[in-house]
Amino acid sequence: MKSRNIIVALDSNNLNKTLELVKILKKDVYAFKIGYQFFYNFGLEGYKKVYSICPKIFLDLKLHDIPNTVEKGLEALIKLKPLFTTIHISGGDDMMISSRANKKNTKILGVSILTSLNRDQTKKYYNQKNVSALVKKFAHLAKKNKLDGVVCSPQEIKHIRKVVGKNFIIVTPGIRINNKLKSDDQKRVETPEKALSLGANYLVIGRPITKSKDPLKTLKEINKTLL
Ligand code: C5P
Repeated sequence: MKSRNIIVALDSNNLNKTLELVKILKKDVYAFKIGYQFFYNFGLEGYKKVYSICPKIFLDLKLHDIPNTVEKGLEALIKLKPLFTTIHISGGDDMMISSRANKKNTKILGVSILTSLNRDQTKKYYNQKNVSALVKKFAHLAKKNKLDGVVCSPQEIKHIRKVVGKNFIIVTPGIRINNKLKSDDQKRVETPEKALSLGANYLVIGRPITKSKDPLKTLKEINKTLL
């Protein structure tokens, strides 16, 4: 059964293994996420190989530059027809507006505050210790500038949903399956079920599936919890 919600993150430096994984999982995912590691290792050629097996791709390159540069970069990127792509909300109003110039069917998602920043870091760089207030402000600005959605941690979903309303897309990484909670570098984690009940539309899941002994079995088990 095809998942309506799960996006599997293909963070790998092994092209053949990744393509095998895409073949095995494609019937049971919503989409695959291609990020820095895969894209900078295998480039357009690698992207197109994944696309030819499964054309539902979230190309997560988190653009952040002056408005003209982001607009022209996205003009090229959108020719690859990803379902979603990302820009940093902190790039400002004009950058967000420019990001929409050539968007066609690709949804543009805003990255709010990196989850790796703690209170001290947000105070230092954004003069605000209250991370949740900062994230809400950024989500509001993303909506105001007509982005299609945001990427945020599971802890922020509820607050953001209140600010952006029903039709704004919320994508969340930091998903862990029950007994695997808090077992690695992801600190603010949630189960798939809980993240959806908090208001997320799509869940990005990487290692719990890709590093599992049987990735398809793990994915199917997760899908069952979301019925
Ligand atoms: O393996 P794991 O499930 O932690 O993968 C999560 C994916 O989501 C990775 O591709 C990572 O880059 C991305 N991500 C994240 N935390 C964020 C934003 C994106 O883990 N705050």
